[in-house]
Amino acid sequence: MNNQRLGLLVFSLACISSGRVFADEGHFGYDGSLGPKFWPKNFQTCAGKYQSPIDIEEHLVTRVSYPPIRYHGFADKPVGSTLTNNGHTVMLQLNTEEPLAVSGGPLKDHYLFQQLHFHWGHNDSVGSEDTINNHSFPMELHMVFFNQKYHNFTNALNHEDGLTVMAFFYEVSAEDNFVYAEIVEHLPTVVLPHSEAKLSRQLPLELLLPNDKSQYYTYHGSLTTPPCSEVVTWIDFKESILLSHEQVEEFRSLQDTDGDAMTHNNRPVQPLGNRVVYFNEREDYSSAVCSKSALILISALFIALLATN
Ligand SMILES: *[C@@H]1O[C@H](CO)[C@@H](O)[C@H](O)[C@H]1NC(C)=O
Ligand SMILES: *[C@@H]1O[C@H](CO)[C@@H](O)[C@H](O)[C@H]1NC(C)=O
Ligand SMILES: *[C@@H]1O[C@H](CO)[C@@H](O)[C@H](O)[C@H]1NC(C)=O
Repeated sequence: MNNQRLGLLVFSLACISSGRVFADEGHFGYDGSLGPKFWPKNFQTCAGKYQSPIDIEEHLVTRVSYPPIRYHGFADKPVGSTLTNNGHTVMLQLNTEEPLAVSGGPLKDHYLFQQLHFHWGHNDSVGSEDTINNHSFPMELHMVFFNQKYHNFTNALNHEDGLTVMAFFYEVSAEDNFVYAEIVEHLPTVVLPHSEAKLSRQLPLELLLPNDKSQYYTYHGSLTTPPCSEVVTWIDFKESILLSHEQVEEFRSLQDTDGDAMTHNNRPVQPLGNRVVYFNEREDYSSAVCSKSALILISALFIALLATN
């Protein structure tokens, strides 16, 4: 190769890599110069006062009793389910006949389902994002919903009450979780970033969740990935979901945008600051009971009125 050609080659390589640096603005990761410490460089909100995840200290929570959370469409089989490797995590999106939604509990509005995804760690002793008494779980599920009154996810990111994320912790057990097997078996087909797969069996959302959802922690925080928008009502359930070590391990083989194994994608905990974490000890049915008895009372008065005529 003569010098001129070599010069051209070096020049082209320089162009390619500078193009790459340019495209990397807004790119983020979990290690080195793209890691969580550096997110605020490109995303100022990541240095905000109401960031997630946090460590939840059980002895500091404020105990409350919210009305029951209502789950809409969770028992229905989706029409289609798409698993996507988005370069940072694996995400499941569902097509349903009726909208999937949640309301009640600490929520003042109706929130529509957007997607669910997972966070995990290097090994089974780390991986969840929120921690409880500094305990980290091997994996965490995030079910993301946006406030219906803001019409769509993107628009909801501009409002303090824009999103709610329901978080569930996983624990490792000796047995495979046969419901999750459907997701885990499709992971090898979405190893590459920006690849997707359709699930063969359709799973109603409620099958992915623990039975007891009456106890949960709730607080105001942010997205745990850039742009770290502080618009999230977090609802972290106390009851865990069980997966086998082999099932959790399968998530670590996915590849990220840089072609590296996605061995971990959990942001470290952020300062709680002046925030309060609430713990729903038991659901409060009294408001529902109350309105029912009011209805009975009104009916009785109406009948009495008819009878006197
Ligand atoms: C698990 O991974 C964490 C984070 O990399 C590390 O600090 C810890 O030593 C590892 N634990 C074991 C048991 O390997
Ligand atoms: C968790 O870690 C923090 C910071 O190191 C410490 O102040 C706190 O006491 C720990 N909590 C528990 C329950 O050990
Ligand atoms: C999201 O909702 C906003 C406000 O209603 C609207 O202006 C915008 O076009 C919507 N975006 C999409 C992608 O539908």
